[in-house]
Amino acid sequence: MKRMLKENSLKNKSILVTGGGSGLGRSMVEYFYELGADIIITSRRENLLIKVAKEISSSKKGKILPVACDVRNIDEVNNVIKKSFDEFGKVDCLVNNAAGNFISPTERLSTRAFDAIIDIVLKGTVNFTLTLGKKWIKEKIDANVLNIVTTYAWTGSGYVVPSACAKAGVLSMTRSLAVEWAKYNIRLNAIAPGPFPTKGAWDRLLPGDLKEKFDPAKKVPVGRVGEHHELSNLAAYLVSDFSSYINGEVITIDGGEWLKGAGQFNNLELVTPEMWDFFEMMRKK
Ligand code: HXC
Ligand code: NAP
Repeated sequence: MKRMLKENSLKNKSILVTGGGSGLGRSMVEYFYELGADIIITSRRENLLIKVAKEISSSKKGKILPVACDVRNIDEVNNVIKKSFDEFGKVDCLVNNAAGNFISPTERLSTRAFDAIIDIVLKGTVNFTLTLGKKWIKEKIDANVLNIVTTYAWTGSGYVVPSACAKAGVLSMTRSLAVEWAKYNIRLNAIAPGPFPTKGAWDRLLPGDLKEKFDPAKKVPVGRVGEHHELSNLAAYLVSDFSSYINGEVITIDGGEWLKGAGQFNNLELVTPEMWDFFEMMRKK
């Protein structure tokens, strides 16, 4: 892993990461921990959380507290927050990373399928942000929130419509609260990742031979998918005090993927040099 921040950059911070037991959440947790933070990881699979906490913390001094919770359930969310304060006396940063997603033509979805995604992504983020936010304000704790969204939060995308709606809501909440809560010394920012291989996302969004048919790397101008340490470095910076003047921002980390998809003439890359020569000749004629 190529590390951007120096040792102990996150010392004396306690960081709560939802969905911290797998994928990008786990990668961020490993790096935050290395940088000296105490960590709370939460998701539904308690066994996984305990295993991950043991694996990461075996060689270091800081602590990783695993607490199971479904982000949709406010009682369970309250329990995570209570246990975090009991253990560390405070929580300084919240990373809303937990998500649910699947691909489907929207007309095939039941309303419960739509609810499942909205409730995890948008409502889960609201549950943690609002509950912690009220506590931070009451106890005058300086804090920051990092929300993990996607680039289709602002462009929208077919076939993942519940996720697109939910992530757009999270993005809007990030910007809105960044203004409203700045007076309490609470910052909110977001990261919009492009394709980063994880089992959770790849199994659900690229099932079967879709991985080969729709190779995500081919859509990225830099010609590859993201590496987890690239995202973790950005996340560590955004939760650290080095980014104290960044507030309400969403930073895209996608090798230029969404811009390439957005430009109406980008597919002219299919035109060969010979064809360009021909067009030039015609123009000059
Ligand atoms: C259509 C589906 C479905 C699918 C479930 N449902 N999967 N509908 N297509 N593939 C429907 C069910 O039939 C049910 O509706 C309703 O959704 C709830 O299903 P449950 O299985 O009861 O839900 P639950 O156990 O809560 O599981 C949530 C989940 C699951 C989202 C469905 O996939 C999950 O646990 N995901 C967590 C991890 C995850 O998704 N990671 C990927 C994040 S990737 P009915 O009407 O039948 O009751 C990501 C990347 C974004 O976000 C950007 C990439 C570029
Ligand atoms: P992942 O490993 O599937 O991560 C999702 C996490 O959310 C899991 O740890 C899961 O744990 C947790 N989770 C799901 N439902 C939950 C619930 N109801 N309550 C509590 N926790 C729940 O996938 P990932 O790729 O790392 O995704 C991480 C984040 O990055 C997500 O916000 C995703 O939208 C975003 N993202 C990823 C990509 C990518 O290419 N990978 C691109 C853009 C954005 P449990 O199953 O144990 O609950």
